[in-house]
Amino acid sequence: MTARVVRVTGSLVEARPMRESALFDLVRVGARGLLGEIVRLQGEVATIQVYEETAGLAVGEPVRSTGAALEAELGPGLLGSILDGVGRPLARVADQEGDFVLPGAEAVTLDPDRRFAFEATVQPGARVTGGDVVGLVEERPGFLHPILVPPRVSGIVAEVSSGSFGARDVVAALDDGQALTLAHRWPVREPRPVAEWLRGDRPFVTGQRVLDFLFPVAEGGSVALPGGFGTGKTVIEHSLAKWADADVVVFIGCGERGNEIADVLAELPALLDPRTGRSLIERAILVVNTSNMPVAAREASVQLGLTIAEYYRDLGQRVAVLADSLSRWAEALRELGARLGEMPGEEGYPTTLSDRIGKVFERAGRARVRGAPERQGAVTFIGALSPPGGDFSEPVTQAALRVAGTLWALDPALARQRHFPAVDWATSHSLHAEATAQWFVENTAEDWPELRRETSSLLRRDAELREVTALVGVEALQESDRLVLEAARIVREIVLSQSSFDPNDARSPVMKTHRLAALAIAFHRQGLAALERGTAFARLPIGELRQTMVRMRSAPDDALDELALHANALIDSMGREAEPEKEAAQ
Ligand SMILES: Nc1ncnc2c1ncn2[C@@H]1O[C@H](COP(=O)(O)OP(=O)(O)OP(=O)(O)O)[C@@H](O)[C@H]1O
Ligand SMILES: [Mg+2]
Repeated sequence: MTARVVRVTGSLVEARPMRESALFDLVRVGARGLLGEIVRLQGEVATIQVYEETAGLAVGEPVRSTGAALEAELGPGLLGSILDGVGRPLARVADQEGDFVLPGAEAVTLDPDRRFAFEATVQPGARVTGGDVVGLVEERPGFLHPILVPPRVSGIVAEVSSGSFGARDVVAALDDGQALTLAHRWPVREPRPVAEWLRGDRPFVTGQRVLDFLFPVAEGGSVALPGGFGTGKTVIEHSLAKWADADVVVFIGCGERGNEIADVLAELPALLDPRTGRSLIERAILVVNTSNMPVAAREASVQLGLTIAEYYRDLGQRVAVLADSLSRWAEALRELGARLGEMPGEEGYPTTLSDRIGKVFERAGRARVRGAPERQGAVTFIGALSPPGGDFSEPVTQAALRVAGTLWALDPALARQRHFPAVDWATSHSLHAEATAQWFVENTAEDWPELRRETSSLLRRDAELREVTALVGVEALQESDRLVLEAARIVREIVLSQSSFDPNDARSPVMKTHRLAALAIAFHRQGLAALERGTAFARLPIGELRQTMVRMRSAPDDALDELALHANALIDSMGREAEPEKEAAQ
């Protein structure tokens, strides 16, 4: 007996009889085949959350279960694609139907017409299991994409052939008749299994000085990025999409404004990856569920993005997942829960909120992945949060803070002063600074950890002194304290702030970060020595040093050496000129 719609309330549809179906099964609703998901089963009645506009849907229209949960199609051809929350390519749906996304559009994720040259790397007779590589295709020039035996599949290769294939073509068969295709499917809500989780000791290099230097995140770590309205969350996520050192970037635009996604789309193709010299769009996958798209698919969009990221991790890649914003995702949960009449928890969010946020963050990690040849991969997760009124004590931010290893807290006061990135150094923190220190030492200089410690304590002292000067004025301070204020000002205004809109400063290589930080700290140390030797505070070349460092900040990389030489000469001169002066005074 065909199941039929018995009731429509907004995006919720009831249908019966649906006895055969399971919770979370994907269904096609009505004559137009709207995509939906079973969110409740009571007897033979299924409640279906429809991902698309239900206007015009009538009682009595047929409902067909697909018999499977929402799955992602994973295979070569994902790089460079732009998908909606349930995995349909926006560009291609638009081509076919002349609109953004049309209800029930049948487009599948991977382009059926695109062909790849598959080169088998196993022979008939080989025993294979989930994660084993059976061959290679070149997904993008220079990007080799191993074709995997899907997790949970195993057997003996009966047949395998090299040649030109589409994503859904069979390239190998196992002895029990199972067919292996270039792409396979995986349920988006289920984390893909790994062989072994590994500790992250390599940093996820962001190219943002304040983050790399003070609050580093390890590859495979997770970050909560909360900030009130207009504090720069989106600009940071976009900067990471552009400049972070990852092999693959999955950007999830979740419930935010459509024009922001349009900005990324306009920018990425024109920018070149500093490592490969190729367009940055070639390493990116965008999952887009903007505020004008159905709220039900918003929840799925985060799961879909994470599943795609885990898949590239399983290929052996270092993947970054940038979600903007998790608050909009949580709001979708709240809205869906309310429609279902669930008992609300804190501030109306589902009682399972913190558990569900935990599950999202837990999908990050560095791992030895399953299958041969042996390889490692990582998913680093950065979730922006937009707490209402900038109040971090609200439930979504609190739940994220409990599970994230790193906190990049954005401060509205810094944003108002146009200090960007407005990362608050007093409240942000990282659990990965020690684990990643060795990498920074090897890639910059021996003194990286020491510079970091000294900078942090300089900033703490600066905060105390600024409170004092607010009361008594700077003249009342000792010269050594005035020096702290000047050195910290250099740290804040030149080392930690960085303009995303300055082509030479948008990305700071770790060497440049080290150089600027080392100059600020050397100025403080040697300035102190000069004061002790009797140099007058007014004679310290603070103005000229600042100017030189400001120029360094926006200088092209090849001009840095010369400017750094000049800055160092200025700092060294502070020690030297003091001697004769002291003698003269005696
Ligand atoms: N790193 C930066 N360099 C220069 N300007 C910046 C930087 N970060 C943020 N800004 C400025 O702040 C503005 C707001 O930033 P952004 O849109 O990222 O904030 P948001 O936190 O995402 O806001 P919303 O709450 O509306 O989503 C930007 O348009 C830009 O002018
Ligand atoms: Mg934003």
